[in-house]
Amino acid sequence: MAKPRTLSGIQPSGELHLGNYLGAIKNWVAEQERYENFFCIVDQHAITVPQDPELLRERTRSLFALYLACGLSLEHCVLFVQSHVPAHTELAWLFTTITPMNWAERMIQYKEKKEKQGEETSVGLFSYPILQAADILLYQPKYVPVGEDQRQHIELCRDIARRFNDRFGEVFVIPEALIRPQGARIMSLTDGTRKMSKSDPSDFSRIHLLDDPDTIRKKIQKCKTDSIRGIAFDDPARPEAHNLLTIYMLTSGKSKEEVAAECAEMGWGQFKPLLADSIIATLEPIQKRYRELSSDPDYLHGLMRENAAKARAVAEQTLQKARDAMGFLPP
Ligand code: TRP
Repeated sequence: MAKPRTLSGIQPSGELHLGNYLGAIKNWVAEQERYENFFCIVDQHAITVPQDPELLRERTRSLFALYLACGLSLEHCVLFVQSHVPAHTELAWLFTTITPMNWAERMIQYKEKKEKQGEETSVGLFSYPILQAADILLYQPKYVPVGEDQRQHIELCRDIARRFNDRFGEVFVIPEALIRPQGARIMSLTDGTRKMSKSDPSDFSRIHLLDDPDTIRKKIQKCKTDSIRGIAFDDPARPEAHNLLTIYMLTSGKSKEEVAAECAEMGWGQFKPLLADSIIATLEPIQKRYRELSSDPDYLHGLMRENAAKARAVAEQTLQKARDAMGFLPP
């Protein structure tokens, strides 16, 4: 029996951090064999806010290598760059014509980003979720693994697919968001009530996957704690303690009970080096593999090209169905 297909997209903006890894990528790797996975590096989404061209190129390349280094296997995943598959933008255009303005105007992420961009807000930022719907629907996936913050975009995608199917006949599979339960939500190192985020201005709020051991030790040394002795999970008054224990649990591979027992009597001075070592040990093999991959750009480009071809083969078929259904004359 064919495995269910998944698709997800990742923006090549900012560096990947421990929150991305423990909250998302690690789960994708653990479950990759159960699905036929498509992971798309969405460079065309990244340009909806200003990007430096050289940096965009570098981040796209680096993200591709980092995903492989984290353990996504090309046996189970097609890992590709959005702009290498022109079907995305073409289908997005078709979708802009069937998406009511007010559906797009309701998007929370748009409203938030518009606040920041002010007068510079582009039309692209507004139509961002429509391009996202095209990313997804081209591959006819059953599931879209995303974070909670993407729920509304996936709902919009489903609405667009239904509307298209109603008007032009059944072309698209209606996908489902695959949102994993809480637990692996990693918080900022400087504020245990806020998510670890690429866009936090402080570097000390997060650990990048490519941080060297010294930097990791320094960041953990400086991270926010409290003045209570003994470290415990699940105390609403101690968000930092909960977060740091969670990171320790996920990087050490120990159970929650084991970690709770081990750290119940510890002070921060004893716990912090332990945590830093555990993070360093988790990231070391990823960094090693990343360096190996990065030292062979030709090999990396070859993989990128092969994967883009695989993605194009699937995407082109769906796009052709959509063109036919809407009444475009074949060339
Ligand atoms: N909007 C998503 C985010 O910010 C990124 C994204 C683009 C995406 N296209 C997608 C996610 C398709 C899932 C499926 O995280």
